[in-house]
Amino acid sequence: MGTEIKIVPDSPALNRVAAAEFQTAAESAIAERDWFSVALSGGNTPRSLYSLLAQEYKTALPWNKIHISFGDERYVPPDHPDSNYRMANEALFSHVPIPAGNIHRVRTELDPESAAKEYESELRTQFGLKNNDLPRFDLVLLGLGDDGHTASLFPGSAALQETSRLVVANWVEKFQTFRITLTFPVLNHAAEVLFLVSGKGKAQILKEVLGPTGATEFPSQRVRPENGRLLWLADQEAARLLSR
Ligand code: 6PG
Repeated sequence: MGTEIKIVPDSPALNRVAAAEFQTAAESAIAERDWFSVALSGGNTPRSLYSLLAQEYKTALPWNKIHISFGDERYVPPDHPDSNYRMANEALFSHVPIPAGNIHRVRTELDPESAAKEYESELRTQFGLKNNDLPRFDLVLLGLGDDGHTASLFPGSAALQETSRLVVANWVEKFQTFRITLTFPVLNHAAEVLFLVSGKGKAQILKEVLGPTGATEFPSQRVRPENGRLLWLADQEAARLLSR
């Protein structure tokens, strides 16, 4: 499946289209398997999408059949302002009838390596994996950093080389901290990957990432689901340098 690129007028439109994608993916997974697995992205861009899901999809979605994981997490306590879990909890979980057992957060209370290992075993249990099976998320939401990173797969970081583990504690030199992140094998085994990119600050990197692969391959360019849909959703401002 090739790369789809959808450009919408602005951030509210981005959220509406993304929410509709979320609903479609949820309904087809639940119709097929009676549950839906989604990995959320962190950072600022998805916060308003999560709020929209809370406001407009509270009764429209069977939250008891939705299992939510995280594509990555900052190595901070769950109540810390930088916590992706805290952001998603404030914007979404605390407003919809999702059972606590359906929320799979990274336990950053542990040391980084133990947190990554525990999250991997949680994924293995959640998806009923055997041996070297990979979890197949129905939907993975991703963002794009201005250095071309996605999840917490940063340029030059060790996690880029990971080929077998599902989750790693990735040292991020520029932030002098660890991030817990899903690895490329997991991202590329998803049924659908949806990148959300908003704002003029992302125009240059989006042009480079969606343009022909240059000398250096950005981590976000390595997200190519082997048997899944890849959709880049961007607003006008983020897409303004893309050649149409
Ligand atoms: C994180 C994210 C990260 C994010 C990009 C874009 O934990 O920060 O998962 O990959 O998606 O950094 O972040 P913004 O949406 O804040 O620009």
